[in-house]
Amino acid sequence: MSKKNIAIFASGGGSNAQKMIDYFANSTTVNVALIVSNKADAGVLGIAERHGIPALVIQRNGFYHSEQLLDDLRAAGIDFIVLAGFLWLIPPYLIQAFPQKIVNIHPALLPKYGGKGMYGMHVHEAVKAAGEPETGITIHYVNEHYDEGDIVFSAKTAITPADNPADIARKVQQLEHAHFPQVVDQLVAAL
Ligand code: GRF
Repeated sequence: MSKKNIAIFASGGGSNAQKMIDYFANSTTVNVALIVSNKADAGVLGIAERHGIPALVIQRNGFYHSEQLLDDLRAAGIDFIVLAGFLWLIPPYLIQAFPQKIVNIHPALLPKYGGKGMYGMHVHEAVKAAGEPETGITIHYVNEHYDEGDIVFSAKTAITPADNPADIARKVQQLEHAHFPQVVDQLVAAL
């Protein structure tokens, strides 16, 4: 059976994309076929180059007012989309073209600490300020709203009073790297 092709969308450094690429490097079922970024200087594009993975840099106007990206995804034979630190809202045409085939990872236990503007250190600062005893990751299907799609996986980690937001970020990133590739593998296997 031919491999399923996934596209990874990322806006930043791409540590999750790197873990995903490493995890699927010898996969017989999944191929990381494309990296998409909205930032021409994103670290994830360097990762794509080093691994010889095709990459696309998208512009806001084209992304929201044309279906060029959809044509590109279809040309690349993309079966599933993984958002790994992609900061733009996904437009309806893309959600309709990939129903229950776009997942996102959020660095907190949704529905708390989610929504517009809740990304990166903003999340961990809010969790710390609220005195939460724990935090974690949430992997969910993507719909038209930030961080509101059906949850497919979550994992928790304790927060101690000594933890600052950077410590929390490190604990959360460990969970992301440990779980995101496997969860994507399971979801793609079920397509
Ligand atoms: C991660 O914290 C992820 O949960 C969030 O964006 C961040 C991406 O980090 N969606 P990286 O670029 O993969 O290191």
